[in-house]
Amino acid sequence: MADAAELSARLTSALAEAGDLTPEWRGPFEKVPRHRFIPDTVWVEDGDRLVPVHRADDETAWLELCYANDFVITQVDDGDPAGPGQVGHEITSSASRPDVVARMLAALQVEPGMAVLEIGTGTGWNAALLAERLGADNVTSVEVDPAVADHARRVLWQASYQVRVAAGDGAEGYPACAPFDRVIATVAADRVPHTWAQQTRPGGRVLVPWATDFHNGALVSFLVARDGTMRGRIVDNVAFMRLRDQRGKRASLDRDVRDVGGARRSFTGLHPYDVVGEYDASLAVGLRVPRCKLIVTHDDGGAYTVWLVDPWSGSWASLEAAPGAERFPVRQSGDRDLWQEVEDAYRWWNGLDRPSADRWGLTVTPEGQHLWLDSEDHRIDR
Ligand SMILES: C[S@@+](CC[C@H](N)C(=O)[O-])C[C@H]1O[C@@H](n2cnc3c(N)ncnc32)[C@H](O)[C@@H]1O
Repeated sequence: MADAAELSARLTSALAEAGDLTPEWRGPFEKVPRHRFIPDTVWVEDGDRLVPVHRADDETAWLELCYANDFVITQVDDGDPAGPGQVGHEITSSASRPDVVARMLAALQVEPGMAVLEIGTGTGWNAALLAERLGADNVTSVEVDPAVADHARRVLWQASYQVRVAAGDGAEGYPACAPFDRVIATVAADRVPHTWAQQTRPGGRVLVPWATDFHNGALVSFLVARDGTMRGRIVDNVAFMRLRDQRGKRASLDRDVRDVGGARRSFTGLHPYDVVGEYDASLAVGLRVPRCKLIVTHDDGGAYTVWLVDPWSGSWASLEAAPGAERFPVRQSGDRDLWQEVEDAYRWWNGLDRPSADRWGLTVTPEGQHLWLDSEDHRIDR
């Protein structure tokens, strides 16, 4: 079994070869070992449950998780695992995927001497990478969960990065140290807080994973204008957990799919993959269809079922995709015809000439946010 130094070197080389790690960030990745920031208990997915892996029980498994190019679950159910036998249901803190961390740091476009605010400290690894490049004095990080913030502060300080880690709601930024040159959110927002623009110098950048209920994978790079508004376009596909007070409701097939016998039945010729498997299409559907969560379950033999669930109203829909089929059975239940809404949104996107993700933009003002396509002249009401 390779040791931590070897695993770290391998991961760094792989990220550089894949083009995710830019030369300016290679040094920090080499100097900041990820495992030093990961708590001794992490969690892995087991069906729809989250089960713990303890370093003390299996150091090799733990270390492999630390150096896989994948996210590591570091807290479940806000630190209070809900299920019997310490089984968790919801991921509430994690170390982000290393390739995503590397791409986001590159997209942040920092220069020496810049002051950066990070929202969502998590393990502290990303804050340490920033501190290695910019100096710890230039890095402030806000974490909503006090226990997570304490862990991050402790490991950062042990590693000699005396980053300012504040426990609090990152949606409020950190006014005491504003203005910043850059803000990087490592937690997703549906409604992007204008505070982040207010606390950034004109000409500064704010990087935010923007999420909808249906689709969670749009990184927006905003430029802050002199009038305090910020405008940005989608620059990458990254998925993050939501800001704590924007989490909404978790969809659960066990809880939300009711009255299967009474569901309205029909067929569609639209292949579910075209809607949920194509990034540009599913992003656009998410812009159009609120309060609709997506779950995909796989059956034996390559068939799968797409579930659409509105946990607020109790409406749900399912779509079965068998290999080679050209017509797909649909079931819809509740007040909303969720599949119909999704299919209409897909056709709306088709009618716009199938815009790719990078053509969408978002503007955030003190009054709220609005979406546009190509330029602010083509505003899209959602
Ligand atoms: C994906 S993790 C961040 C990963 C982290 N940057 C790292 O290097 O490990 C997202 C974090 O955001 C935190 N979070 C959620 N809502 C927040 C909020 N309103 N303000 C600050 N942090 C928040 C979560 O508790 C979680 O620790």
